[in-house]
Amino acid sequence: KVMLDYPKINISKASNLKVGQPVSFTYPDSSSPCTLIKIGRKTQGGVGPDGDIVAYSNLCTHMGCPVSYSSEERTFKCPCHFSVFDSELNGQMVSGQATENLPRILLTYRDSDDSIEATGVDGLIYGRQSNLL
Ligand code: FES
Repeated sequence: KVMLDYPKINISKASNLKVGQPVSFTYPDSSSPCTLIKIGRKTQGGVGPDGDIVAYSNLCTHMGCPVSYSSEERTFKCPCHFSVFDSELNGQMVSGQATENLPRILLTYRDSDDSIEATGVDGLIYGRQSNLL
């Protein structure tokens, strides 16, 4: 497996995030929209003081439409052909046309300044042959 040289990008302070309110950012470059979300309960791979902060690519793995986050269901939904991805289960596809999970943006939390950094991608961003162009 090839190790890609991902950038480290500071996204937000954990204390600035509100439960269920998505924060948009781009990673690993400006043409890859992503969403950071504080789910509100400890989750698999979640970071931050409460272990509940996760991030995903915003591009549906079916045909690349932008997904949007539902704080009630804690899922990402695609408006184009109704794929649904679980934000608490590693972006797992719950239903719809997509066959791949939503790519997960790997995060690190730094205690010293409360910062959340993006440090990598697990999964292939829609439309790319490599996550790093
Ligand atoms: Fe998202 Fe088709 S582009 S379900």
